[in-house]
Amino acid sequence: MPFRIEKIASILCCPDDRKSLRPKDMALECCHCGRIYSVWEEEILELLPSKATEPQSNPEYAADYHCQFHRTFETQEHAIAWGLLESRSASWKRHRERQAQTVLSLLRRGGVPLRDLILCDISAGVGDYTLAYWRHFKWVFHCDLSIEALRCSRDRFRRMGCDNVFFLRVDYFALPFSRSIDRLLCLDTLIRGEDHEKALLNQIQRAISAEGRAIIDFHHWWHNPLRRLGLMRQNFGSNRSYTRSGAEDLMRECGIRDQRLVRFYQELEAPFSKGLSWLLPATRLLYEFGCAASGHASPARAEASSSTSQPKQAARSAAEISNATSLGAA
Ligand SMILES: C[S@@+](CC[C@H](N)C(=O)[O-])C[C@H]1O[C@@H](n2cnc3c(N)ncnc32)[C@H](O)[C@@H]1O
Ligand SMILES: [Zn+2]
Repeated sequence: MPFRIEKIASILCCPDDRKSLRPKDMALECCHCGRIYSVWEEEILELLPSKATEPQSNPEYAADYHCQFHRTFETQEHAIAWGLLESRSASWKRHRERQAQTVLSLLRRGGVPLRDLILCDISAGVGDYTLAYWRHFKWVFHCDLSIEALRCSRDRFRRMGCDNVFFLRVDYFALPFSRSIDRLLCLDTLIRGEDHEKALLNQIQRAISAEGRAIIDFHHWWHNPLRRLGLMRQNFGSNRSYTRSGAEDLMRECGIRDQRLVRFYQELEAPFSKGLSWLLPATRLLYEFGCAASGHASPARAEASSSTSQPKQAARSAAEISNATSLGAA
C-alpha cells in the first residue's frame, strides 16, 4: 500500500525529542528539531533516532543491533530476516497459531471493539502476529529495526491485499509514539538481559495511551532448567529466560503494577493442556498491562547484569508458580 503519511502523522512523534511531526513533501518533519523522516520503497517509513543506543549486558545482541541500526535502504547486502531461518515444521506452525490465538484472547479482553483501535507490534519480525490480526483492527503499525524483516512482511501483506497496515522502521529503544497506541505487542523480544528489558518496558509504557494495553512475554526459566543450569546443551545463546518473580520484579522496577499473567504451554495441545497443564512449567509467561497509574515510569537505569539464569530466584518462585492464578490458554 503506498504510504498515506498525513493519515498517521498525529499518532507518531519524533524519536529524538518526542515532539509532533507534520507532513512535508511525502515525508514527515519534526515541528521542533526539523528532522525529516522519509518513506522508502513507497511503503516503509523510517523513524530511527539520530543516535544508536549502547545495549549493555548482551554483547551478541549489541553487535547485531549496531549492524541492523547502521544498515540503510540503499545498501543491497544480502541478509535474512529472523523467523525465515526457522524450520517451519507442521508442529512449529501449530504452536505459533495457538500462541497467536492466546494473544488474540488477551487483545479482546475488556470487550472494546478492536475495529476502533490501533494495534502496534514493536518487534514484529516477519509478521506472524500482525498477519493474524490486521483484519480485526482499524490500523496496524508493523514495526521493526530490520530492513529485511520489513521487506519480507510487506511482501507477505501485499499478497493478502490489506490496506490498513503501516510499515515503520523503528528502534524500540526510542519509539516514535507518545501515548498514542491502543494495543501494543512485544513478543519473543524481552530476552536480551535486564538493562535491555527495562529500557524496552519503559518505552512501551510511554507509547501506550491512557486506556491502552500492552502484551509482552518472557521465556520461562522453569520450562527447561537443565539447559539453564548447563546440564543439557544450551540452545538459547546468550539470551535470558525469567522466573515468574524475576519477570515481575523487573516490571515492578519499571512502574508496572496491574499486570495480568497468562501461562502459555507450547507443547501441549488444547484438550490435554486444560487438564494437566498445572503439572508442567509453562513455556512462556505472557503479561498484559496498562499505562502506569502515576504518569509514566521513571526511565530505566541501565544496570550491569549477568546474562545467565538465576537458580536462587528460580527456587523462590517455584512455590509462587504452583500457587499462581492463571488464565490458561484461550
Ligand atoms: C526474536 S524476533 C521476534 C519477532 C516477533 N515478535 C515474533 O514473536 O515472531 C525479534 C525481532 O526484534 C527485532 N529487533 C531487534 N532489536 C530491535 C530494535 N532495537 N528495535 C526494533 N526491533 C528490533 C528483530 O529484527 C526481530 O525481528
Ligand atoms: Zn525532533
